[in-house]
Amino acid sequence: MAPPGDKPDASEEAMVAKPEGRPISNIVIIIAMQTEAAPVVNKLQLTEDPNSMFPPGVPWVRYYGTYKDLNINLIWPGKDPTLGVDNVGTVSSALVTYAAIQALKPDLIINAGTAGGFKAKGANIGDIFIVSDCAFHDRRIPIPVFDLYGVGSRKASETPNLVKDLNLKVGKLSTGDSLDMTPQDETSIIANDATVKDMEGAAVAYVADLLKVPAIFIKAVTDIVDGEKPAAEEFLQNLAAVTAALDLAVEQVIDYINGKHFSEL
Ligand code: ADE
Repeated sequence: MAPPGDKPDASEEAMVAKPEGRPISNIVIIIAMQTEAAPVVNKLQLTEDPNSMFPPGVPWVRYYGTYKDLNINLIWPGKDPTLGVDNVGTVSSALVTYAAIQALKPDLIINAGTAGGFKAKGANIGDIFIVSDCAFHDRRIPIPVFDLYGVGSRKASETPNLVKDLNLKVGKLSTGDSLDMTPQDETSIIANDATVKDMEGAAVAYVADLLKVPAIFIKAVTDIVDGEKPAAEEFLQNLAAVTAALDLAVEQVIDYINGKHFSEL
């Protein structure tokens, strides 16, 4: 160890060497529901793109802006043109993730949103989870190897320092296109060892993996799936409060990422 003030020798320099390349600068955030997206848009002071870069007529909405040293794009899949509700679920989230990666070439995808949590796995209402693994629970193909394809298990990008420094919980995510849970879904979710259940994550993970873009997942628990109340009732009851916690967590994660290389996360 050199005395204070001395120049570090080569070995010390190597130990504190900064990673090569530039820090993360372009982030795409994918959020499925307007209620979840709006507070993040406000917090990061993003602006809606009036000239959509997406194909004419699609309902997808891009918000963009500079936050600290980061270019941020937040993509919300918009509302169903006929029914007027948010385009939740795997189809829209996969489409917008693909379109956003093609158009914006991000360094990192963040999928943020609400999720059901399993109390048996330690989840409570309002908890924020960083996802370690994503898989599907409603793509049952009982033929060898197709069964594994259906489950579509993928690891999220690892962010051990972020998880430790922000003191966030880590758990596995299971994704399906239903808010409720059939007994068959439950069997698959248990097989996936999931702590949280959503309707987008594994689809975003699939596209990010396909196009080789790192992806992290921030999920806030609105309802306890293995509890007493129906998921839809508990979800609607807690949506506003939990969305506030989600928005805070997204801000903390973005603040943490600012100025860092991916290998530092
Ligand atoms: N999002 C919030 N709660 C959920 C649940 N129980 N299942 C799927 N997605 C959700």
